[in-house]
Amino acid sequence: MAIVIEKYSADHLETCVSVLADAFVTNPLHVSAFGSQRIDQNRLFFRIGLRRMFIGPAFVALEDGTVRGYMHCNASPYCLPPPEEIPTAVATLLKPLGAAIPRVIQWFAKWCHLDPDEPHVHLGPIAVAPEAQGKGIGTALMNRYIEHLKQERAAGYLETDRPENVEFYKKFGFIVQREEQLIGTPTWYMWRPQDK
Ligand SMILES: CC(C)(COP(=O)(O)OP(=O)(O)OC[C@H]1O[C@@H](n2cnc3c(N)ncnc32)[C@H](O)[C@@H]1OP(=O)(O)O)[C@@H](O)C(=O)NCCC(=O)NCCS
Repeated sequence: MAIVIEKYSADHLETCVSVLADAFVTNPLHVSAFGSQRIDQNRLFFRIGLRRMFIGPAFVALEDGTVRGYMHCNASPYCLPPPEEIPTAVATLLKPLGAAIPRVIQWFAKWCHLDPDEPHVHLGPIAVAPEAQGKGIGTALMNRYIEHLKQERAAGYLETDRPENVEFYKKFGFIVQREEQLIGTPTWYMWRPQDK
C-alpha cells in the first residue's frame, strides 16, 4: 500500500466531505451536537467547513490514488474567531444546521475561549475514512503536520473528544493541558511545545 500526502485542492472537496463525515459521525461531540448517526448534518457541517472555515494549510492522504484522509491546520491568532463573534458566525455560516446551532455555538465558543494566547499552529480537523483506519494513514498525516510545525518553528495545539485519540496524539509529543466536559462530553485540550 502506497500512502502519498499531498496538498488539498478543491477537486477533492466532495471526497473529503465524505471522509470527514464518515469518520466523525460517531465522535461524542458530533453526536451531542448533531444527534446519533446524523451523517447528513455532518456532511453539511464539513462541506461548509471545507468551503469557508478551513482556510489554513490542508493536506489529503491518498492510498493508491484514492483520498482516504484529510488534515487541516491553521496558525494563531486567526485559527478560530474571537469568542464574541461566534454566535453571529455560527448562525450565519452554519445556518443550514438548524436545530443544532445552539449546541454548535456552545461548542465553538468554548474552544475559542480556551484557545491559547501563546503562538501555535492549531490542528483540526484530521480524519481517516473508517474503513482505512489503523493502517498508518493518520500517522502519515500527523507526520506532515509535525513537519509543518518544525518548518514554522511553532508549537502545536488541538482539542479532542476521544480518549483513544489522546493516546494517539501523545505519540507525537502532545501533552494534555486541560480536560473538561463540553456539551455533555469529556474533551481534552492538548499542547505540543515548539521543538528546541
Ligand atoms: C484519529 C485518526 C485520524 C487516526 O487515524 P488512523 O489512520 O486510524 O491512525 P493510524 O493507523 O496511523 O494509528 C496510529 C496509532 O494510533 C492508534 N489509534 C489510532 N486511532 C485509534 C482509535 N480510534 N482507537 C484505538 N487506537 C487508535 C493505532 O492503534 C495506532 O497505534 P500503533 O501505532 O501502536 O499501531 C482516525 O482514527 C480517525 O479519523 N478517527 C475519527 C475522527 C477523529 O476522531 N479525528 C480526530 C479528532 S481530534
